[in-house]
Amino acid sequence: MNPPRLIVIASGKGGVGKTCLAIGLSQALAEAGQRVALVDGDLGLANVDVQLGLDPRRDVSDVLSGRCTAEAALLPHPAGFALLPGRSGSAALAALEGASLQGFVRMLRGLPMDWLVLDLGAGIGAAQRGLAAAADLLIVVATEEPTSLTDAYAVLKLHRRDAPAGLAGLVVNMAAQPARVHAALDAACRGFLGQGLALLGAVRRDPRVASAIRAQTPLLTRHPNTPAAEDLRRLAEALPGFVAVPQLA
Ligand SMILES: Nc1ncnc2c1ncn2[C@@H]1O[C@H](COP(=O)(O)OP(=O)(O)OP(=O)(O)O)[C@@H](O)[C@H]1O
Ligand SMILES: [Mg+2]
Repeated sequence: MNPPRLIVIASGKGGVGKTCLAIGLSQALAEAGQRVALVDGDLGLANVDVQLGLDPRRDVSDVLSGRCTAEAALLPHPAGFALLPGRSGSAALAALEGASLQGFVRMLRGLPMDWLVLDLGAGIGAAQRGLAAAADLLIVVATEEPTSLTDAYAVLKLHRRDAPAGLAGLVVNMAAQPARVHAALDAACRGFLGQGLALLGAVRRDPRVASAIRAQTPLLTRHPNTPAAEDLRRLAEALPGFVAVPQLA
């Protein structure tokens, strides 16, 4: 069986929709029959479990300290994917570097899954850069706000430095004109990094996203036919075309 494909979701800037995308994509892939582990990679303020109304007994810091395996820490969600929860207030993941970071990624890649969706927190610290560099596909999330664009570009620039052959793509969130957001970032990447940026998809601004969070229920369960849910399903359908299945080492 092939190892899972590791998707890392980053943005630089906080609050642009990474966690919503990570949950929605995980659920949409699971709906399509894929085995998915959603990894809460927010290095300091993990909260995916809260957004999902789960009460984890084990989390990523137990895995990092060797108290349990990554598989034992997985918490199945009724929506069809499993969550590897983070621990809010723990610095264990943020402190990862070098061999320990490689070891963590190797452990994740050993999970019996088709996809690993790692929700990275805001910022561009060393551990975040290391995790992004390990991805089979780095998804950068941006909105139309200028600060989001500059931060997304910073993430892409560092990714090019850290993983010159790495694959990255853009998801535009909550923008009235996603094509303009893509055009701006694509032009910057072409001009300064020597390579354009693929647009993987766009998720429309949708008030039901917030209502699902308030209900601690994934969007595709709470509002299966709302515009943002449709966009997330479309993105999940397109994803296999962007990222090849890694071969067994
Ligand atoms: N497509 C959307 N339509 C409407 N609101 C959205 C959409 N996506 C995200 N939001 C809103 O934006 C807020 C931030 O989303 P989210 O928590 O996913 O961002 P984040 O990038 O993970 O933030 P952080 O950097 O703090 O981890 C949420 O409260 C949610 O209600
Ligand atoms: Mg988040």
